[in-house]
Amino acid sequence: MYRTHTCGELSQANTGQQVTLAGWIQRSRDLGGMTFIDLRDRYGITQLVFNMETDAGLCMKARKLGREFVIQVTGIVVERSNKNPKLATGDIEIIAASVETLNTSDIPPFTIEENTDGGDELRMKYRYLDLRRQNVRSNIILRHRMAQEVRRYLDGQGFIEVETPVLIKSTPEGARDFVVPSRLHNGEFYALPQSPQTFKQLLMVAGFDKYFQIVKCFRDEDLRADRQPEFTQIDCEMSFIHQDDILNMFEGLARHLFHAIKGLGFEGPFPRIPYDEAMSLYGTDKPDIRFDMRIEDVTKAMKGRNFPPFELAAYVGAISAQGCAGWSRKQLDELTEFVKRPQIGATGLVWAKVETDGTVRSSVDKYYSPDDLANLALMTGSEAGDLILIMAGPREKTLNALGELRLEMGRRLGLRDSAVYAPLWVVDFPLLEWDDETQRFYAKHHPFTAPKQEDIQFMESDPWRVRANAYDLVINGTEIGGGSIRIHDPETQTLMFRTLGFTEEEAQKQFGFLLNAFRYGAPPHGGIAFGFDRWTAIMGGSDTIRDFIAFPKNNQARDVMIDTPATIKQEQLDELGIEISKSAESK
Ligand code: AMO
Repeated sequence: MYRTHTCGELSQANTGQQVTLAGWIQRSRDLGGMTFIDLRDRYGITQLVFNMETDAGLCMKARKLGREFVIQVTGIVVERSNKNPKLATGDIEIIAASVETLNTSDIPPFTIEENTDGGDELRMKYRYLDLRRQNVRSNIILRHRMAQEVRRYLDGQGFIEVETPVLIKSTPEGARDFVVPSRLHNGEFYALPQSPQTFKQLLMVAGFDKYFQIVKCFRDEDLRADRQPEFTQIDCEMSFIHQDDILNMFEGLARHLFHAIKGLGFEGPFPRIPYDEAMSLYGTDKPDIRFDMRIEDVTKAMKGRNFPPFELAAYVGAISAQGCAGWSRKQLDELTEFVKRPQIGATGLVWAKVETDGTVRSSVDKYYSPDDLANLALMTGSEAGDLILIMAGPREKTLNALGELRLEMGRRLGLRDSAVYAPLWVVDFPLLEWDDETQRFYAKHHPFTAPKQEDIQFMESDPWRVRANAYDLVINGTEIGGGSIRIHDPETQTLMFRTLGFTEEEAQKQFGFLLNAFRYGAPPHGGIAFGFDRWTAIMGGSDTIRDFIAFPKNNQARDVMIDTPATIKQEQLDELGIEISKSAESK
């Protein structure tokens, strides 16, 4: 038997007992006659004591043990004289009677403590050591608990977990595919799934009724803090449902997870905000509603006073920040710099301050009368002490910029507390998205998303106007999940493909298997997929999903630990019938 207990479980109730522990040496301290060792395993840390006076030989042996050595120790549990309230086992220590080295260790390249001295790249290269750190490990354990609770809830609701293939044909999800060359069929390729979208629809045709899967998905896209090239979805699909059934079912999942993982409950249903409203009030389709600060359309009020930037603009919008009228010139200049960044691309920022006596002072006093400015304050719901920030330009772009400014103000004012959770549904997304470059429509979600029945009439005459039965779950400004009711009748599907510019043959070539399946009695169905990494990260109070993935890729999509992507042998290339082009080789 390697151990009688773990390093996280002994307490005063065990005093006097002889125990055997096994683990890694986190830290060792020699204090004259005594040597103390912090022994670590997955469960915690226990202090070991070696006493020079009572057993000099053992103490000398202990002093030779280095950081991260794996040892087995037997000793007696005693109450500690100076207790450590920060440690679960801080009331006791083990007076060692024997110690066995199970393995030695090289000196680790960084300290394996909560506040490590290791930089990002180094920690990723030695991820197995990084994972020994308690805070990193607890993220992975949180992920495990989330997965268990997802399964518990969905199983309880009658969902069946079905695995779908990883070597497939392109799925129409909108990002680039990762492709896998075929040895048996030179010149042909599999694609890794961007999601199991078409398979879960086939499972509905097959009569499975309620499907889910915690599944790896692969997308070759530009990375960000909340994006990885391989990530995990909680993928779900249901038959014989309307949109409300789906929203209710998965609001139930969200409530279950928040309750089980965070002990949190939410009063009343999650807000459901139409896409148009989200865009006009928050400048984004994933609003952070932990704080209010809504965008107000002040176009009418601000035009007609000969202030050139507003006269030329199609839209003028404003937000009001409570209690910020005292912000300095420097702070306002910083905000102006912020909105002028290329990612945001605003041309400028106008401010107005509501003074304590109610008068409004602004950066454009020359153009606006006191009455105009009082009206602006009224429109934006501003009171004495508030700061109004105004931007102008093309409507959508300006709303996006105001949305970013709103988030920045929220950040600066501490209104984006990671311990507070504000979930909502964004519904009624547009069905289509126009792409200027290719001069065609794309499906905003994917080509199987059903248009709203009442909007189908505009599919050909006014495609911009068509809304979809599509929805996203948003938590704290992050898109956690998205889904839709699917098209299940061939006429609407044909109409959709036509609108997307697919010929009959193209549609058949790409999605023939699904279209054929739909000829054999497809039930009305719909579903949703959640970003499992994102949801776990949010539950862990972070928006960096990398910290919640055991072996993530870095922001160059590389795994620096196993050193991949990497070249392969010429024989492998030959078998696959692949030649590397000269330009790729020189890169
Ligand atoms: P969608 O493309 O919206 O929908 O993806 C669902 C959710 O997956 C998460 N996600 C990601 N997480 C990490 N890294 C990425 N690169 C990444 N891309 C997406 C997001 C997103 O909300 N088949 C449809 C769902 C459906 O219609 O049922 C789909 O995949 O949190």
